[in-house]
Formats: sequence, C-alpha cells, structure tokens
Amino acid sequence: MKNIVILISGSGSNMAAIVQTAQAEQWAQRLGARVCAVISNRPDAAGLAVAQFHGIATEVVAHTAFAAEPHPREAFDAALMATIDRHQPHLVVLAGFMRILSPGFVAHYSGRLINIHPSLLPAFTGLRTHERALEAGCKFAGATVHQVTSELDHGEILAQAVVPVLANDTADSLAERVLAQEHVMYPRVVAALL
Ligand code: GRF
Repeated sequence: MKNIVILISGSGSNMAAIVQTAQAEQWAQRLGARVCAVISNRPDAAGLAVAQFHGIATEVVAHTAFAAEPHPREAFDAALMATIDRHQPHLVVLAGFMRILSPGFVAHYSGRLINIHPSLLPAFTGLRTHERALEAGCKFAGATVHQVTSELDHGEILAQAVVPVLANDTADSLAERVLAQEHVMYPRVVAALL
C-alpha cells in the first residue's frame, strides 16, 4: 500500500478534498494507496477534527515546542521528519502547511514532496497572493501544485488552475473561487502521481 501523509496548519479543506476523493474513488482498491496520517504543526488546526471524522490518524508536532532549541527550525524539522517517516510515506502532501522547511527536510523527501500555492506561479510567491494579484490588475488568478524544493514556492509545476478575476472581486471573493478549484485540482494531481 502506498502511504500518503498530509501536512496541515489550518482548516484543511484541501486535505479533506483529497481524503473524500480517495474514499469516493476507492484509491485503496484502484490505486493501492491511502491517506494514512494527517500531521499539523498547530494543535488547534481545525482540519485535525475533519481528518478524525474521516477515520484518519492525526498527529501534532508543535513548532512552538522547539523555540528554546539552539536551532529551532532544524530541531522542529527533525521531529517532524521522524513523525512522518514512521508512516513510510510514498508521498508527502503539503496542504496549507504554513512553515518554511529546511533544505535537509526538503532533500530527504526529494521527488515525493508536493505543495499547493494560491497563485499562478512563478507570479506571487509568498503570502497575500490574492491581494497582490488584484493590486497588479491581473485578469486571471489561480493556484499551482508544484514539487517542493529548498526555494520557497519554486520547484517543478505539476498543474495549474486558472480563475478569471471579476470586476467587483475582493481578495476574499477571489480566494473563495480559487480554493474551489484547488479542491478539484489537488486530488487529481495526487492520484496522477500515485
Ligand atoms: C490554500 O489556499 C492553499 O493554496 C494554501 O493555503 C490554503 C490552505 O487552505 N497553501 P486549506 O487549509 O486547505 O483549507
């Protein structure tokens, strides 16, 4: 069985879309794959309860617990890696996971670590993507699924979803329509990689 581990920090709607698609499309029988764990760096991430509702094992590795370490980021990444590796993952899926990962972490999962970013990369890496797309007067926005490399929001583009910007769009209204497309695209990319 190919194990999928999903990392979240918040609402986990992309994670839920992948879990629901895996169940609806019977990935276990058809692709020999299953979402075996959802891991959060935040104990209060709403997505943890969603994962539990779907019968998925959840774990928390709180980044705040490593603040006093001499190298907090590396110490957190090492603990996270150990937790992930207990699940022997075929694929590690970042779904709204709001931590920058160290080069050692990224190298360890090279070729099996993917992310979804709410812009049409290479435009608008980083945060506030929808605000910046509106400020720039873009006529199209969207989201990108990409391989994760040590450079933030770079790495090979695997898929993109394009959403037209409407005349009266706010960052929130645009984000809502982009997110709806993320929920279609991300499960498709995961299934294709399996
Ligand atoms: C999504 O917009 C995703 O593109 C970005 O963070 C958001 C996560 O939303 N990386 P959710 O936690 O999947 O609901």
